Amino acid sequence: MAEKGSENAEYDYDLFVIGGGSGGVRCARFSAQYGAKVGIAEERYWGGTCVNVGCVPKKLFYYASHYSEDFKEAEGFGWEKIERKFDWLTLRGNKDNEIQRLNGVYRDLLDAAGVTCFNGRARIADNHHVLVGDTKISAEKILVATGSWPDIPTFTGSEHVISSNEAFSLDKLPERALVIGGGYIGLEMGSVWSRLGAEVTVIEYLDYITPGMDREISNEFKKILSKQGIIFKMGSKVNKVKSSGSTVTINYTDLKSSKDETLEFDKVLVSVGRKPYTEGLNLTKIGVKKDEKGRIEVNAKLQTSIKNIYAIGDVIKGPMLAHKAEEEGIAVAEILAGQAGHVNYDVIPGVIYTSPEVATVGKTEEQLKEEKKSYKVGKFPFLANSRAKVNNETEGFVKILADSKTDKVLGVHIIGPHCGDMIAEMALAMEFGASAEDIARTCHAHPTHTEAIKEAALAVDKRPIHF
Ligand code: NAI
Repeated sequence: MAEKGSENAEYDYDLFVIGGGSGGVRCARFSAQYGAKVGIAEERYWGGTCVNVGCVPKKLFYYASHYSEDFKEAEGFGWEKIERKFDWLTLRGNKDNEIQRLNGVYRDLLDAAGVTCFNGRARIADNHHVLVGDTKISAEKILVATGSWPDIPTFTGSEHVISSNEAFSLDKLPERALVIGGGYIGLEMGSVWSRLGAEVTVIEYLDYITPGMDREISNEFKKILSKQGIIFKMGSKVNKVKSSGSTVTINYTDLKSSKDETLEFDKVLVSVGRKPYTEGLNLTKIGVKKDEKGRIEVNAKLQTSIKNIYAIGDVIKGPMLAHKAEEEGIAVAEILAGQAGHVNYDVIPGVIYTSPEVATVGKTEEQLKEEKKSYKVGKFPFLANSRAKVNNETEGFVKILADSKTDKVLGVHIIGPHCGDMIAEMALAMEFGASAEDIARTCHAHPTHTEAIKEAALAVDKRPIHF
């Protein structure tokens, strides 16, 4: 690569990154720290989906929704009953301030690393040139990190019908909300609305929620959410969505009975998936290959079919997760610096931020069956975990899947208190190739929720202590 700041450089930049989200920013900063001259363009907001319309606002709403339960719970721990009133606009304002703060943090970190930032929409002119507005920039390497956008089906397009992009900017909490699609986004948002006081209905096309998740966990998840008051219409298809005044009428078909029903709501959230955001980049024109789902094809080094153009994050295959994009961004920076950048796709944890949380890493039981792999299962319920019992957080369980012959951990699936943090231990164990016995023999502090992990590992060999 050309020397950073070198006047004789053949190109303006060693690396030009398109997209200032989780993956693009990590790659730009790491590359600059490795000595490359880096430019980056962002058309909308620094920090991308995660900071602006994804993880960050959702966590604030999620955290706020916890209080309604905590106030009730506190009474069982000796606190007197007090009346509390929730103000949606205060929460929305705090969310906007936090996003603004983080937008600045992202820019400051890029500046501090010596990366040149461009505010504007970039498109690729040819293998070595990018246009940001009218400015033509040359670069030895180009990275596409433009993320994804909500997939909006044709039956929508009506007022009061929103995607996750608008869900955090509403003027008030909807009273009756419909969520179309029982996946990550719909259930996280639906659960927040429900806990803040809305009546929430979920219409899901399949007979189960969260496709791709271990089915036993997914079934337990649906049971818990139903108990919390969320109404599920499973195996159902939305036909028509129509706004009139302040309400939205939807018509759907129950696919088993073929019966149609019409329901009325004041907001409809469409969360039926996201698609790679590559429109207008000129990729097809310059010969970058995409697969049948519109994702950019890459090799193990994250190179596209044009070798000096790389792609990471939601525009390529794999789960659409901020931390996956970050790992890929860092891997590209390392590869460009001549190091052995690598992402272990078998050990990417996923967390659904509901109450309780759901966390997963590695293979599901369904995947192991499909692969005809011989496996053992160890499970442990939080009901038998002393810390969860004292805290009155007894819903859910830990499930560990291990290879029948080698005992190597192949997958861990948890639904229960704080499991979004607990899953890190399992990701680390799997990264080191741990066996279930390694985990079972590791001393876990008492009393903690993590003891449920040790117990589930012991249960793989049918010897749990407390159950
Ligand atoms: P998703 O793929 O998780 O779920 C979409 C759901 O909609 C599926 O259950 C599908 O069967 C259903 N569906 C599709 N068409 C339908 C229709 N016409 N009527 C009824 N149901 C229909 O997609 P989602 O929730 O939009 O999330 C998109 C991506 O964002 C996911 O890949 C996820 O990885 C990522 N994400 C991750 C989060 C996290 O890690 N906590 C949070 C939010 C999003």
